[in-house]
Amino acid sequence: MTTPNHPTMSGTTVQQEDIAPGIGQGIDRVDGPAKVQGRASYAAEHSLGQRPLEGWIVEASVPAGLITNIDCSEAERCEGVVRVLTHENVPEQMLYGDPADAGRFGQSHAVMQGRGIRYHGYPVALVVAETLEQARHAAKRVRVEIDSAEVRVAVGASDRSFEELWQHPELQTPESLDGGLEPDAASGDFESQWSEAVHKVDVCYQTPNQVSAAMEPHATIASYDGDKLTVYCSLQVIASAVEGLANTLKLDPAKVEVNSPFVGGGFGSKLGIHNDAVLACLATMVLKRPVRVVQTRRNVFSNAPHRGSSMQHIRLGMDASGKLVAIGHDSIMPAAHGYPFAEATGACARASYSAAGIRSRHRVLPVNMPVLDSTRAPGDAIGTLAFEAAIDEAARVCGIDPLDFRLNNMPDKHPVNGQPFSSHDLAGCLREGAERFGWARRSKAEAGARKLKGFGMASAVRVNMLVKSAAEVELDRTGAVVVRTDMTDIGTGSYTILAQIAAAELGLRVDDVTVKLGRSTFPTSSGSGGSFGAGSTGSAVQAACQNLRRELIKHLNEAPQCAHLSKNAIDSAQLSGGRILVDNESFSVQSLLESADLDTLCAQGQIEPGEDHDNYAQSSWGAHFVEISVDRDTAEITVDRITTVVSAGTIFNQKTAASQVKGGVVWGLSYALREELMLDERYGAFMNRDLAEYHIPVNRDVPDIDCHFRIQADFRSNPLGSKGIGELGICGAGAAIANAVFDATGVRVRHFPITLDKILEKWEAEAG
Ligand code: MOS
Repeated sequence: MTTPNHPTMSGTTVQQEDIAPGIGQGIDRVDGPAKVQGRASYAAEHSLGQRPLEGWIVEASVPAGLITNIDCSEAERCEGVVRVLTHENVPEQMLYGDPADAGRFGQSHAVMQGRGIRYHGYPVALVVAETLEQARHAAKRVRVEIDSAEVRVAVGASDRSFEELWQHPELQTPESLDGGLEPDAASGDFESQWSEAVHKVDVCYQTPNQVSAAMEPHATIASYDGDKLTVYCSLQVIASAVEGLANTLKLDPAKVEVNSPFVGGGFGSKLGIHNDAVLACLATMVLKRPVRVVQTRRNVFSNAPHRGSSMQHIRLGMDASGKLVAIGHDSIMPAAHGYPFAEATGACARASYSAAGIRSRHRVLPVNMPVLDSTRAPGDAIGTLAFEAAIDEAARVCGIDPLDFRLNNMPDKHPVNGQPFSSHDLAGCLREGAERFGWARRSKAEAGARKLKGFGMASAVRVNMLVKSAAEVELDRTGAVVVRTDMTDIGTGSYTILAQIAAAELGLRVDDVTVKLGRSTFPTSSGSGGSFGAGSTGSAVQAACQNLRRELIKHLNEAPQCAHLSKNAIDSAQLSGGRILVDNESFSVQSLLESADLDTLCAQGQIEPGEDHDNYAQSSWGAHFVEISVDRDTAEITVDRITTVVSAGTIFNQKTAASQVKGGVVWGLSYALREELMLDERYGAFMNRDLAEYHIPVNRDVPDIDCHFRIQADFRSNPLGSKGIGELGICGAGAAIANAVFDATGVRVRHFPITLDKILEKWEAEAG
């Protein structure tokens, strides 16, 4: 067992090459050819021996109520229909949400359990037919009568102030926040610091409901033979999916096999199983034939998770010199009934800047809405969107450049819990970003120009985590190595970086390493999520390779070929192209394994959080700088350029890491200017359930993103020195754009997204 508890490296810059040769190199994705040639099978594309039946979800048209009658007779008579599953004929499932101690991914995700409707879009029937068209056709002929109930679907009507909402009798304090954070945290006395502050910002920001809507929709193909359940499902984490399915379906987890070798994006929405998985499994358990349920794009908006809206009340108090003395962050979000998830929107307010009095509190209001769950950088994505915009307001109130304001308020330890940082490079990112962008030389548009110019910047802060992980490596007689772990590659580059890590550790070429992922029969890993996958599973792979090397040395010591060699020489043996080099001699891996009477040599490795994770505050750091233009007449916003500097320890692959960061920055742009799920509160229904009406940026909306890494290994994070990077890019990127919009227009829009109507309205009001 390897635990990261390494000697202090603080202040030392460890070069990438010192970690291992080949680590960091921006090589092409090893799975790239398979993907572009269509050889990489996604969840819905697997063959389970037999052409699967197709399931089509019949969705509830109200957010709550009881089914009083369901008439499937017409649907059942339709051509090709094999069965219509409803609450009346599905196999018994564990009560939704039980057992509570299994956590939100492992607990029962039962559907169609009893007559109750939990949200608009909730499955009331699954039509199973020979073809998708037949299932879809018949689904329109299922007649459902529902005695609907009046329920809450949204937090806070626009006419209700934050203070009024804070007094709402049904407001709840979540037991804990995502990532295990306390709902309420404080240091010093916020109230007294706030009352004495010389400069103050007291603002309420709002972010809308949002959805990640990964390119590959949630999809499952399942097969049950009366004993064993085999499932291909689009997932970020395998082990908890096995647990979740076993619990839901009351099966022995040893009889549930889950596979997810290729995944077309997850962004938190595939951390757990969703309705496609449960419905496909229920159907195959009834019909004993493979069944496929692919969520349509419209399904994805209701049968998979979304991010809840947030109201964030931010109070920033400064002394006469512009030093932050009070930081207050109170957040109210919706929470899905019976599903324990709450975002830590205030995490960045706790971790970014020092102040004598800090207070951060989180409350949720239960709603009858589809599952609210992780969406890319839960907490920090929308937390930094509001908080880093409020920081810009604070700098302006004090008359200080927003870059200097941030640099003047850098913490030397975690501002709330007082722990030392494992490594802290926010100031470094801010300074380097400013330099590369030319922040000091920014200049406004000439008077009378058609376009207004604006500049904005923001910090990026994202908590760093390590999750227990295991992996195995196997060396065969040809000298090739196979890595196996149930880790997933959700488009992030896991296949590639794990091959790089194994190759570097064993002194092999990347081509000599085959990485196999995403099967529940492989050792249990972190899976992909929370930016922890690369560091956690990568460290397990490294440990497995180190153990393999030990095994190899052990066998070398026993091998007759090495009898004449010194122990020291054997200890420094190297693998190379199917051969083993010892001293000046070389012999084949085959001959060694033959003399040991082995076909292959196998080793396991593990990692789990150690003392350094208890004793140090850990974050990844970054900074964004943005230049925009705004049309003087239409308020149309064009983002002209973005510079992002990132400090996230060791970078495993500069190309895939940059892709992660750039994707995050695009998403930040999208949160600032585009994305909003429109809710019809009468029906609890999202009105823009497709990618035509749910607006996201296209290539033309996104400038080149200038992305730089400050590579400083942090060995308190893990033995490879890496920190989370996947979710860092989105953090602060939207705020940098919002701040640029204010810089250009003089309008501070605190209700995201910043659409041009909101700017025009203010301009018109000002013009009288
Ligand atoms: Mo992430 S949003 O924890 O996959």
